[in-house]
Amino acid sequence: MRKKVIAGNWKMNMLPNEAMAMISNLAPLVKDADSEVVLCVPYTDLFYSLLTAQGTNIKIGAQNMHFEEKGAYTGEISGKMLKSIGVEYVIIGHSERRQYFAETDETVNKKLKAAFANDLKPIVCVGETLGERESGKAFEIITNQTQKALDGLTDEQVANTIIAYEPIWAIGTGKTATSEDANEACKKIREKIAKIYGQNVADRVIIQYGGSMKPENAKELLEMSDIDGGLIGGASLKAESFEKIVNYNK
Ligand code: 13P
Repeated sequence: MRKKVIAGNWKMNMLPNEAMAMISNLAPLVKDADSEVVLCVPYTDLFYSLLTAQGTNIKIGAQNMHFEEKGAYTGEISGKMLKSIGVEYVIIGHSERRQYFAETDETVNKKLKAAFANDLKPIVCVGETLGERESGKAFEIITNQTQKALDGLTDEQVANTIIAYEPIWAIGTGKTATSEDANEACKKIREKIAKIYGQNVADRVIIQYGGSMKPENAKELLEMSDIDGGLIGGASLKAESFEKIVNYNK
């Protein structure tokens, strides 16, 4: 049985004081959660969030990292730096980074390897555009992205990678994939992993759905057979809405 992972992605939102207030409010509401609870916060909130989350079951993640360990990469943050302050998770290859910051399947793969080298838990995002979905290419796109992201990893590393299926047309739009469509996409990703790495590995991989997940639709999505969690943007900014998603089964 895979443990669900419910992760918030705050994107470029929340000042440190807001982060600390949100986490303080959230902690008592999710203390009995059955799922792993993660908040992926901006770099400037990391330290404050880690301190506030101490002694709670809330885990803290970053939203990006560089694949090199150190060097002349102005403005970048390495996996080693994240690990050094106690960060546990890192989002890699979010569609906004692929779209606005020229991330490619190749950089995603390098970052994934660097995340494992630094003992961070990666959440790798894949997803198709509306045009790709309408032209019937969605499954080909997402399974290719998955294969390229995982290339060269050991079976154990693949099993410990979290994949977030985030259809780009559903992000921040209020349009959610139907639970059947989202589940089918997650299933295709798992089948591809099974084909390359074997069913045992595929059965262990956590595959999240992301894209306008909110309290009203979380239960239906999270109860599907192949959806093992959520990556939540807008609804993760407030303790009251994020808590309802985390506690979808209560
Ligand atoms: P929304 O939940 O705001 O649609 O964002 C989804 C997302 O991109 C999470 O990474």
